Amino acid sequence: MAYRIAPSILSANFAKLGEEVQRVVAAGADLVHFDVMDNHYVPNLTVGPVVCEAIRPLTTAPIDVHLMVKPVDRIVPDFAKAGANIISFHPEASEHVDRTIALIRDYGCKAGLVLNPGTPLSCLDHVMDKLDLILVMSVNPGFGGQKFIAEALKKLTAVRSRIAATGRDIWLEVDGGVKVDNIGEIARAGADTFVAGSAIFGTSDYKATIGAMRAELAKA
Ligand code: DX5
Ligand code: ZN
Repeated sequence: MAYRIAPSILSANFAKLGEEVQRVVAAGADLVHFDVMDNHYVPNLTVGPVVCEAIRPLTTAPIDVHLMVKPVDRIVPDFAKAGANIISFHPEASEHVDRTIALIRDYGCKAGLVLNPGTPLSCLDHVMDKLDLILVMSVNPGFGGQKFIAEALKKLTAVRSRIAATGRDIWLEVDGGVKVDNIGEIARAGADTFVAGSAIFGTSDYKATIGAMRAELAKA
């Protein structure tokens, strides 16, 4: 299994964002996870396409945009033009999920669907063949530094078997409360792509932390 680590810049020092992105990629990050919050779909406000565009020239690592915004469609082209590689959204935030997936792909990005802790797997019905990524939230979206919700392990396993049934290489990402001490268990549940914000940016040595995560994944 190829595992990917996606540090969430939500927990980076925003006053030094460019440097933080470069440091974390140099430390071994596979993706840059970019959390977009609108103070409407979620009760927090972060950054938009202009910030994505500003960090784009600083790294060749894919930018993994996690949209926590409602409505979704209007902002998709802006992120695609700002250099996003993956764009994921919450089905509850889109009136027409299939259309939003198509829009993301038409703009040349990989499309992801995000399942909140309370979102049933049935939202995957009929769209599996169009998805490049499924993101299972292991916290309720809106904030970094929350505790991993254990129920997400069962959900990951269930999504993993749905992915296997398609025979397609759909990435299975997990987001929220991922740390060195639980990443192995989360990998065994089926995840292959791991978002971690506070667990990486809350430490001083990003390389050591990502290395410790990879060591746990190697044992998983
Ligand atoms: C939460 C965000 C996460 C967040 C994860 O809504 O989607 O990406 O940054 O933070 P940690 O890893 O600290 O739980
Ligand atoms: Zn996220």
